[in-house]
Amino acid sequence: MLCLGIESTAHTFGVGIVDDKGNILANEKSTYRPASGWGIIPVDAANHHKKSGSKVIENALEIAGISIKDIDIVSFSQGPGLAPCLKVGMEYARYLANKSRRIIGVNHCIAHIEIGRLLTESKDPVIVYVSGANTQILSFSSGRYRCFGETMDIGLGNALDKFGRNVGLGFPPGPKIEKLAKNGNWVDLPYVVKGMDLSFSGIVTECIRKYNAGYKLEDICFSMQEVFFSMLVEVTERALAHLGKKEVLLTGGVAANTRLQEMLGIMCKERGAEFNTVPIEYAGDNGAMIAWTGILHYKSNKNAPCNENDIDIQPRQRTDMVEIGWIK
Ligand code: ATP
Ligand code: FE2
Repeated sequence: MLCLGIESTAHTFGVGIVDDKGNILANEKSTYRPASGWGIIPVDAANHHKKSGSKVIENALEIAGISIKDIDIVSFSQGPGLAPCLKVGMEYARYLANKSRRIIGVNHCIAHIEIGRLLTESKDPVIVYVSGANTQILSFSSGRYRCFGETMDIGLGNALDKFGRNVGLGFPPGPKIEKLAKNGNWVDLPYVVKGMDLSFSGIVTECIRKYNAGYKLEDICFSMQEVFFSMLVEVTERALAHLGKKEVLLTGGVAANTRLQEMLGIMCKERGAEFNTVPIEYAGDNGAMIAWTGILHYKSNKNAPCNENDIDIQPRQRTDMVEIGWIK
C-alpha cells in the first residue's frame, strides 16, 4: 500500500511517497524564499506552492518509479500553518485523490514526531519539537501527544530567524547563526523559563539591542544559542524526571543544530536516557513525514469513510487536539 503525502504549511511544498512498512520511495520539495530582510509573505508562499506543486508531484512519482494509479491514499498537512498555503496543499490532495482514493488530513507537528520515531526507532520518548513556528516538549499519554512545556510567544526557529533578519543574515538564518556561534564568547543575556514554559522574544530584543550597541555578532550568536538551548534542556530534563521516561527525541527544523544535539545528548547521558535526533534530511518540513503519518492514520482506522466534504484545513490545530489511534 502506498501513500502520497503533501506538505505545504509554510515555506516548503513537499511531496513524499511512503509504503505501509515505512519505506520512503520519494521525498521531493521546493522551497519559497522571501526577499532578503522579509519574513514569509503568506500569499507569495501560496503562489509559489501553486506554481511548483505539479512539478514536485511529478518528480516524486518519477523517483519512486510509479504512476498516480499506484497510489492508494493521499494525505496532506491540514494544520497548524498559514491558511493560504494549507489550502493549496489541500487542493492538490483533492485533485490527486480524484474522489476515488482515501484522503487524510494530517497534523504537521505530529508528522514531525512520527517521522522521527520511524527513522530512529525511538519508542516512547519525551519529544523536543523545535521548528520555525513551534516549540513544544511533548510525550504520549492517554491517547494523545500531550504538551508538557511550550513557548509562550514565538517558536525557537522564528526567534533565531528574527534575530538573523535584523542583523542582515540571509534566509534561513538558523544555520548561519550556528556557524558564527562557533567563534563566539559569552555575553550576558536574560534566561526566561516560567514553570515548564519558555519565552524567546524578549531575549531576541536584547540580542538586537546588543548588536546595535556594537557587541560582536559571533558573541551574540554564541550566547543566544547557549541561553535558548539551556532553557530547552532544563524543561526537557524536568519532563523526563516527572514522567519517568528514558528516551528523548529531537525533531523539527532546529533539530539540525549540532550544538543543540550536543547539549541534549549530554543531559541524557548524565540521566541514563537514550537520545535520538531525526536525520537531517527529515528535520525540516517534508512530504515523507505527511505520507507516513497518513499511513498510520489509515492503519488505525481503515474503515473511516472517504468523505471529501469532511476534509478541511485547520490552521490553528494543536498537537494535543489529535487522537493517536496507532499507539496503545
Ligand atoms: P513549523 O514546523 O513550526 O510549522 P516550519 O515549517 O517553519 O515550522 P521547519 O522546516 O520544520 O519549519 O524548520 C525551519 C526552521 O529551522 C527555521 O526557523 C530555520 O532557521 C531552522 N533551522 C534550520 N537549520 C538550523 C540550524 N542548523 N540551527 C538552528 N536552526 C535551524
Ligand atoms: Fe515544520
